Amino acid sequence: MDLARARFAVREYAQTPVEQAKIDSILEAGRLAPTAKNVQPQHIYVLQSPEAIAKINELTRCAYHAPVVFLVCYDTELVWTKDGENSGNMDCSIVGTHMMMEATELGLGTCWVKWFDPAEVAAAFDLPANHKPSFLLPCGYAAEGVQPHANHFNRKPLSETVTYK
Ligand SMILES: Cc1cc2nc3c(=O)[nH]c(=O)nc-3n(C[C@H](O)[C@H](O)[C@H](O)COP(=O)(O)O)c2cc1C
Repeated sequence: MDLARARFAVREYAQTPVEQAKIDSILEAGRLAPTAKNVQPQHIYVLQSPEAIAKINELTRCAYHAPVVFLVCYDTELVWTKDGENSGNMDCSIVGTHMMMEATELGLGTCWVKWFDPAEVAAAFDLPANHKPSFLLPCGYAAEGVQPHANHFNRKPLSETVTYK
């Protein structure tokens, strides 16, 4: 509950590098996430070289020049599929939520990002055809003085989003 309350979308980052031990810990939290049928179809690209960071910032305005951007994909050849629908985005979302919360625990900011063209990103980073981008998670130390956007404080009451039957 403390982490859920502390986290907010960070859209401005310090250029301080993220320690490898913290990246490892974030990836480990994602590794422990449940996935449909335990197939673990996720594949995570850690974008951090100057070339990769420049490229992702050219492809979306929502990478926010973070020092690390996790590009979370799922493997279309592994993912659990039923009745024509696969659980790739669900699996990636659980993995990503674990990662986002661990980043918060470690004092890092993140922002969940859907604002990009998956095909463009896949081509730009030479991804194999079976790695489908799900979302981006820019990550780093928040720039000094960054505050949550007003949206952060605007949550519907449970009475609007929950029904007991
Ligand atoms: C599925 C999803 C997609 C999102 N896509 C973007 C995005 O492309 N760009 C962005 O700046 N924020 C994006 N966000 C962040 C939300 O706008 C933000 O989480 C929401 O306004 C609540 O604010 P908070 O995270 O500060 O509590 C996304 C969040 C989610 C869950």
